[in-house]
Amino acid sequence: MTDNQPTPDRIMRLINGYWATGVLAAAATHSLFTHLENGVDTAAGLAARAEISERGAQTLLDGLVSVGLVELHEGRYRNLPDASTYLVEDTPVSLARFAKLKLKHMGALTDLADVVRAGGPVKAPVVEVANNPHWEEIVKAIAPQSVPAATAAVELLGLAEAGEISILDVGGGSGIYSGTWLEANPAARATQIDWEPINAIARRLLDERGVGDRFTCVDGDFHTTGFGTAEHDVAVYSHIAHQEGPEANIEVFTRLRQALKPGGTLVVCDYVVDDDRSGPAFPLIFASEMLLKSKQGSTWRQADYREWLLKAGFENVAFYSAPPGTLVIAR
Ligand SMILES: C[S@@+](CC[C@H](N)C(=O)[O-])C[C@H]1O[C@@H](n2cnc3c(N)ncnc32)[C@H](O)[C@@H]1O
Repeated sequence: MTDNQPTPDRIMRLINGYWATGVLAAAATHSLFTHLENGVDTAAGLAARAEISERGAQTLLDGLVSVGLVELHEGRYRNLPDASTYLVEDTPVSLARFAKLKLKHMGALTDLADVVRAGGPVKAPVVEVANNPHWEEIVKAIAPQSVPAATAAVELLGLAEAGEISILDVGGGSGIYSGTWLEANPAARATQIDWEPINAIARRLLDERGVGDRFTCVDGDFHTTGFGTAEHDVAVYSHIAHQEGPEANIEVFTRLRQALKPGGTLVVCDYVVDDDRSGPAFPLIFASEMLLKSKQGSTWRQADYREWLLKAGFENVAFYSAPPGTLVIAR
């Protein structure tokens, strides 16, 4: 048999891919990555520390070795580097909460074939419904994905040294950008537009970070809430463009350009696909989530962002990798 011979192995793993989601979520639920990081390295030890059955602990460890998150060496288990960095709890970039959330979303996938036929959601869409409780579950879980982008933008835009700037965050969610930027720049102020229950979450989190006195929330739909005119130095629109169609994105970018002072900067962050739609892998598959949950959303190409931003009146558009997203900086 040559290396190129087809085998069922990869297909079997993909067909059973939901077990990766399940094992990862169960391991995160029982804090196994955190315990492994703290040096607990056997099934018996993890069972005792996590207060789960030893049979369950061993089964999860087998699954985690199978999906390449944990390694076994001379009878001892340890996190591989990705799991160490991204699955240990309570770190700024931890995806453990997101892993638990995605298991809860899995039931909706049974609609996907019907959604593909229909070209959009067949049950109530998530995105177009005001105050959808979906967002309350999601915003804290996804915030760690925005930490690399928010941190990179501090450097790229020189935000720490920018003095008394005004920031506008449209669909700010947990307030992760405002929190990061207000901490970096003690003279900055930020305004977030989002639904009322989400703004309440952001307000609490920014108060906890000690920057709440420079943070203002505006409750409402960003499609109909005014952004103002020439008021802000920096605006941010992160993980929103994928839920909107081209016309809505151009409309929002146009109002954001007007809301910025001359010379102001728009920061967009999203899962951006290559212009020929050949990659990267995660943004390509995330388009399915938008088909399932939104009427117009998708993952958009660099060429789409460039075209829309130029139409909206920006003159210069640049792209920077900020895994798992891409930063788009428009001036
Ligand atoms: C995927 S989250 C992104 C949160 C944040 N920008 C980030 O990158 O972490 C989308 C956010 O947009 C908000 N949102 C979605 N549609 C909205 C609308 N029409 N008006 C106001 N907020 C909206 C949601 O409540 C949620 O906080």
